[in-house]
Amino acid sequence: MIKITIIGSGYVGLVAGACFANLGFKVCCLDNNEKKIQSLKKGVIDIYEPGLAELVKNNIENNHISFSTNKNELNSSEIIIIAVGTPQNSDGNADLSYLDSVIDDIINIATQDKYIIIKSTVPVGTANKISRVLKKRKPDINFEVISNPEFLREGSAVRDFMEPDRIILGCTSEIAKKIMLKIYTPFAQKDIPLIFTKNSTAELIKYASNCYLAMRIAFINEIADIAEMIDANIEEVSVGMGYDKRIGRHYLHAGPGFGGSCFPKDTTALSNIARSIGAPSKLINAVIQSNNERKSKIAQKILNIIHPPHGKTIAILGLTFKPDTDDIRESPSLNIIFKLIEVGAVIKAYDPSNPQEIKNIFKDQVTYADSTDEAIEGADALVIVTEWAEFKLLQLQQLKSQLKQPIIIDLRNIFNPAEAQNLGITYISIGR
Ligand code: UGA
Repeated sequence: MIKITIIGSGYVGLVAGACFANLGFKVCCLDNNEKKIQSLKKGVIDIYEPGLAELVKNNIENNHISFSTNKNELNSSEIIIIAVGTPQNSDGNADLSYLDSVIDDIINIATQDKYIIIKSTVPVGTANKISRVLKKRKPDINFEVISNPEFLREGSAVRDFMEPDRIILGCTSEIAKKIMLKIYTPFAQKDIPLIFTKNSTAELIKYASNCYLAMRIAFINEIADIAEMIDANIEEVSVGMGYDKRIGRHYLHAGPGFGGSCFPKDTTALSNIARSIGAPSKLINAVIQSNNERKSKIAQKILNIIHPPHGKTIAILGLTFKPDTDDIRESPSLNIIFKLIEVGAVIKAYDPSNPQEIKNIFKDQVTYADSTDEAIEGADALVIVTEWAEFKLLQLQQLKSQLKQPIIIDLRNIFNPAEAQNLGITYISIGR
């Protein structure tokens, strides 16, 4: 049984660990957070990710996965996956301090040759730099550094891991390629392409992919603004464009702007990288600016409809940056709530994942409802920010009877505008 040690048991590390364990590898997940590791040992996970808890539990039971804070465990296998966070630091660059400390640990502890697989999103050139550091500081051991970026989406991470469109493997030596082929055999057998590149190419593929997807969203959001002005329908525009095989239909859903921990962070990071090497990207900078402006514009759009907002109760459905996660980082809901509170509106919010983090931001300035009904009943207006499945089942007729005033602002285009109009609802959506 091939052993794999994963350093960093956060989002990417835990999903990769659970999935590799499920494929039959013997996985040890390390993390320096004692509380997290104690919970994981009991099969309790602190992130909201469909299917992950079951996977972790099953593989604890069959002894395929274990958890530890003991760094020495990194010596128990020749394959190490690094999946620590690379958050954005104050100047917009990726903060590599967690990664650097893992490399220090490897240098201090490793006693045999190692394959070091980097899954964390890191600036172009990081893998080569790590290779050089390892060679210099521990010349008696052979380290093969492989860049293997992840393309997991929150909310569908397990499926994305098990059924990826491609696997990117930045490594050039034959010995590293051989071991990667071994680890990823279950995927190759399903005809999933394994793409071998140089380290720097693999690192750039990750940033370029996220920036490109972010660019599509910013693009369709701007087209939505145009559609709104000329009485066109953005949903039909997206469908019409998407049938063109050169364009495709994904990431063309207009909304309140992209959020999350990845697109905002990675667009800023690549913009900084490009600027620092003297090749500034006008396009990526425009995407960042367009998305930031969009979030404030959407908040203003709401204020233009709910007028005057002071003292009005606004029901907000959806706080997370997208459905099936409890992550509120860079969520458009934050801009909207800030703005509404500023002008004296009363906020009653409901999100199926009950994200705790938002309570630290708004404290008691927001009332949190336990259900859609509780949030909506008696409100002066309803704003739908995130397209959770349960919101798609809501009936306009019923919403109208629950609201004090029939005003619905649907930022995810869930409802049919004609139906809302027939019911006498003031219905505002995006780009139509
Ligand atoms: C993103 C990428 O999709 C993953 O491939 C990548 O691995 C991940 O970042 C990462 O770098 O770790 P994620 O941030 O989980 O994944 O979320 P997405 O599902 O891509 O959505 C990002 C944002 O775009 C959300 O705010 C979503 O509402 C918005 N979006 C997405 C739109 O507004 N319209 C769309 O058509 C699609």
